[in-house]
Amino acid sequence: MAYIIWSEMFSVRVPYIDNQHRKLIQIINNFYDALKDPEASMTIFQTLNELFHYTELHFKDEEEIMHLIQYPASKLEKHKLAHENITEQIFKLNDQLNRGDERTLYNLESFLNNWIIKHILEMDKAYQPYTTRYRANRPRQIMESDFYRNL
Ligand SMILES: [Fe+2]
Ligand SMILES: [Fe+2]
Repeated sequence: MAYIIWSEMFSVRVPYIDNQHRKLIQIINNFYDALKDPEASMTIFQTLNELFHYTELHFKDEEEIMHLIQYPASKLEKHKLAHENITEQIFKLNDQLNRGDERTLYNLESFLNNWIIKHILEMDKAYQPYTTRYRANRPRQIMESDFYRNL
């Protein structure tokens, strides 16, 4: 597996979220580095822990934004479910690592491709039209908050 390099292809046209996705990709690359190094078992767990916490924060922010831009409820529910599944996968990776399971590297590769990358490219990009519509109609006072400034 090669390192994941951020490109425009990943952009959901929301700078706040794009920055979080960049950071996620950076943590994933660090994690992959640590997995390749047999001396780095502490770093592996630290990086996985960081991935878990950052993913949790990102999902919370993203779900809040989807709610704000009035992403349809049925789509939002599916998206939240996908986030829950990703979180579960992180727990599973953590379990495998704890057990010293040799499939971890292979499973990490499929996790990155099938869950994180595919999720950004397919599910995250799907809310883009709603962000565009929101931008055209957003209430002025929301602009003043840091959280929404880059929406
Ligand atoms: Fe995302
Ligand atoms: Fe998402």
